[in-house]
Amino acid sequence: MKVLVTGGAGFIGANFVRLTLATRPDAEITVLDNLTYAGNQASLPPEVAFVKGDVADGDVVDALVGASDLVVHFAAESHNDNSLDDPSPFVHTNLIGTFTLLEAARRHKTRYHHISTDEVYGDLPLEGDAKFTPETPYNPSSPYSSTKAGSDLMVRAWVRSFGVAATISNCSNNYGPYQHVEKFIPRQITNVLDGVRPKLYGAGLNVRDWIHVDDHNSGVWAIIDRGRIGETYLIGADGEVNNLTVVRTLLELMGQEPDAFDHVNDRPGHDLRYAIDASRLRSELGWEPQYGDFRSGLAATIDWYRENEAWWRPAKLATELKYERLGR
Ligand code: NAD
Ligand code: TYD
Repeated sequence: MKVLVTGGAGFIGANFVRLTLATRPDAEITVLDNLTYAGNQASLPPEVAFVKGDVADGDVVDALVGASDLVVHFAAESHNDNSLDDPSPFVHTNLIGTFTLLEAARRHKTRYHHISTDEVYGDLPLEGDAKFTPETPYNPSSPYSSTKAGSDLMVRAWVRSFGVAATISNCSNNYGPYQHVEKFIPRQITNVLDGVRPKLYGAGLNVRDWIHVDDHNSGVWAIIDRGRIGETYLIGADGEVNNLTVVRTLLELMGQEPDAFDHVNDRPGHDLRYAIDASRLRSELGWEPQYGDFRSGLAATIDWYRENEAWWRPAKLATELKYERLGR
């Protein structure tokens, strides 16, 4: 099977390529990625076929989609803080890029899987145990989540109007190796490794539903293998933790005092809580997460950043300069 992986030099895409190489000997992978600040070819095994190009470039996309049996579309501008600073690349990649891929999938009748986020649903109250389900109305808060929401809606429309053979997954916050140091967990791990105190937005009571990246990607394969065309599946592993607890756990695992962190300015429009009800994926497709314990997953992730400084170091200074400018 010829598989086109867009955004394969990013965090989740690179882990998807690695998982696929390890578990799917029949898959012949090509990565399409234009290597933005978030893309890093060093995240990929050198033998993987790589095309440097933009998912919004119709000619490049048409040729690659036409030569593929399956497209798995990870490429995106993915960071909320950046989207609040400058939304324009988010519109280009998340909306125009997805449109370009959908049109090519329509022309060539190529199976298409769309990677999305639970942030399209907005946020949940901090109190109570409500969760997002596939029926939750879309209510995105940021330029990032609104452009992802728009891309999801296009996929649904291209299924209904043009019969594109597509599925969608909306996953919660991922952690694991090869995640850019701008994101919450790698930023704090690499800060501590640099002797800098972790930075917590506001009071740190916002809740995220953490899932290991390999569990996300095994869910994606379950949907590609057994999912119903046109359907949306939520991926999550019941990993709700607030940001303060994440920082405290990380400090403890790294041998620091529990209060050795700083509160910094909150993010404007900061979503309060995300939580996923993944029962459709579990009951209909028989998927189960393998990384049940967030604490031990976090410990393994800390070890990975400790052992792979050469991978993250080149991005660290520019990332912290950006945060300094944003006051966070
Ligand atoms: P990332 O920022 O680490 O990687 C994105 C990749 O896409 C990079 O390699 C970048 O170079 C590439 N890219 C960006 N614009 C491109 C363009 N115009 N053309 C070609 N390539 C381009 O992101 P990630 O965290 O790996 O997220 C991947 C996908 O998963 C995204 O669609 C995101 O919305 C979704 N998602 C992420 C999370 C999470 O916790 N990180 C959770 C749920 C869903
Ligand atoms: P992030 O990794 O940016 O993911 P998302 O915005 O998609 O949830 O942030 C996760 C949570 O951590 C979010 O509530 C914002 C918070 N956060 C901090 O407290 N400090 C930081 O330095 C960063 C980057 C995020």
